[in-house]
Amino acid sequence: MSRRNIFVFLALILALGGCQLDTNVKVIKMGHAQVVAHPVHNAMVFLGQRLEEKSGGRIKVKVYPNQQLGTERELVELLQIGSLGMTKVSAASLEAFSPEISVLGLPYLFRDDAHMNQVLKGEIGKELLVSTEKFWLRGLCFYDAGKRSFYTKSKPITNPEDLAGLKIRVQESKMAINMVRGMGGSPTPVAYGELYTALQQGIVDAAENNPPSFYNSRHYEVCKYYSIDEHTAIPDVVLVSTKVWESLNLEEQNWLQEAANESADYQEELWKAAVEEALREVMKAGVEISYPAKEPFFEKVSGVYELVFKEQPQLEPLIQRIQQAKE
Ligand code: GCU
Repeated sequence: MSRRNIFVFLALILALGGCQLDTNVKVIKMGHAQVVAHPVHNAMVFLGQRLEEKSGGRIKVKVYPNQQLGTERELVELLQIGSLGMTKVSAASLEAFSPEISVLGLPYLFRDDAHMNQVLKGEIGKELLVSTEKFWLRGLCFYDAGKRSFYTKSKPITNPEDLAGLKIRVQESKMAINMVRGMGGSPTPVAYGELYTALQQGIVDAAENNPPSFYNSRHYEVCKYYSIDEHTAIPDVVLVSTKVWESLNLEEQNWLQEAANESADYQEELWKAAVEEALREVMKAGVEISYPAKEPFFEKVSGVYELVFKEQPQLEPLIQRIQQAKE
């Protein structure tokens, strides 16, 4: 057993049971990968407060941040076996569990924020949230995870040609791998919690993420160029283990769903300010922010769509529905 596995194993023992019964109080354990200053952490704490209020103190949520209980993939697996009650992961981490959700990782899928909100908050969003249920994961709501752009150690990315020869960290997602490869870079999957060291030690030369994550992860200490090409807008997903969901009665399930919806509204409010703060702070720390023209990136990724149509033709109608959704 590696040191990391021993750590996760010990954390698991501590956290054992996705939902603990403490006399009359149910405590749902929720793990995620972000630091506590990140807006998604605050939204999850808010979710817990709302649930506690709605249930008159009978249901509580205990949030474990910082990958304390494992990487996003591990957290999802813990939910599946019911050892953890809830999590918040990037939709990219759910690719293996729902081919439908993987389409959210397609580059330049949404025309703008209004289009994205229309899709995620409408019928399509609801269908995507329940698409993981056969894998014992129930999606409760989406959180805004903004738009992802490249950050690099040695030079700004002014067009896709600048990505050539760079080892670029991607999420553990086939879609992300295909996208970076399509743009001409060398995709290297690394877990989020290990990325700071990977950048520092030169295992990768670059990565990509939204401004609050670039800032809160402190990756800006190592990467001094942030090139805002906004290639993807992959949302986060709040999930509950179906084992925990089914242990709740109908009233409790409604409270949890309402608390999740309210936390999504709250997170949306926090997000805008967090993006502004992140850009301001990284600039203060000496990061050079640039806004390359998006068209050359856009042109490079048409192959990613063609690959999906070829390998998973059943997803084409869903992609078309998303593209045709009116804001
Ligand atoms: C975003 C997302 C996280 C994810 C991270 C990543 O920050 O919100 O859930 O872990 O990207 O790049 O892995």
